[in-house]
Amino acid sequence: MIGEPHFLDAACYHAAPGFIDHLKGEIPEPYRTDDDLLTVMGPSVQAYWIRNLWHKPFTAEFGSIKEAAAVLRGMQRNWAAYPVRHARRTTLIAETLPRIPARPKTFPFIVPDAPMGSFTLIDEHTLLASADCSSPWPNGELSFAEDREGPPSRAYRKLWEALVMAGSMPGPGSRCLDAGASPGGWTWALASMGAQVTAVDRAPLDDSVMAMPGVSFMKHNAFTLKPGDLGPFDWLFSDVICYPPALLEWVQLWLESGMARNFICTIKMQGRDWDRGVTERFASIPGSRVIHLWHNKHELTWLLVRDTPNP
Ligand SMILES: C[S@@+](CC[C@H](N)C(=O)[O-])C[C@H]1O[C@@H](n2cnc3c(N)ncnc32)[C@H](O)[C@@H]1O
Repeated sequence: MIGEPHFLDAACYHAAPGFIDHLKGEIPEPYRTDDDLLTVMGPSVQAYWIRNLWHKPFTAEFGSIKEAAAVLRGMQRNWAAYPVRHARRTTLIAETLPRIPARPKTFPFIVPDAPMGSFTLIDEHTLLASADCSSPWPNGELSFAEDREGPPSRAYRKLWEALVMAGSMPGPGSRCLDAGASPGGWTWALASMGAQVTAVDRAPLDDSVMAMPGVSFMKHNAFTLKPGDLGPFDWLFSDVICYPPALLEWVQLWLESGMARNFICTIKMQGRDWDRGVTERFASIPGSRVIHLWHNKHELTWLLVRDTPNP
């Protein structure tokens, strides 16, 4: 019937940009493919290389653009269009729906609790949509109001995104270890929040970051520093370029020592492939999760955040 949602026993996986082949290796054979959106029948499976997962997808038939917008609007306010087939028509439906703020976000902010739905068109008169998506951002895309002068690299956006997703962050006086810190984007972000940062790298920090209050630098291999040499820390960060098993081994040392409470580490994949086994070992660490952030490239982010969310 026109306008009635028809729920599918399926999930739609929206691939992280550039990583659809990784995603295809993680999920069963798709039932349909809409550019980077893969619909797979049956319950959802764990997939890391996604920007968004559409739970409980449905199709709905409609006559006019207004009718399509009314179907969606009848369910909730926020809908992100993913224009693939009939892209112009998809955009026109989006323009008929309440506007989603597109302005870059100023860090820090709290993840909005209003759900963000997603939709596309599978033909001229049929929506494929989900009101229940894993990402709070439209199509998983997040942009920050950037500081073009302070930080020496743009890597700080990745840390900001991870902290927003964590819902908790260092504050004035928090003790932070930043491993693989050079040239200093993450250290800049942490010191700007008032944290005390021990930055470790084989390469130096940018002078401007070095001079920030609360920053101390050690020129060292982070992995040969033992927790007892440096700890305790409220937050341990790593953006070290290394093989994932080396990072896991080092993280386990810190977990066993009890000398770090919260962890955010990028798992950088080497070569064209990715290390699924090690990724799953990270993900199985109790209380933690592994996600692909919008600002991640060929890497995933492991988060273990034990502090309660910031109010
Ligand atoms: C992606 S960069 C880090 C960027 C940094 N997070 C920022 O925001 O500017 C990776 C860094 O890891 C460092 N690195 C690689 N192996 C390391 C090791 N064993 N110990 C410490 N640093 C290491 C490199 O020198 C490089 O500066």
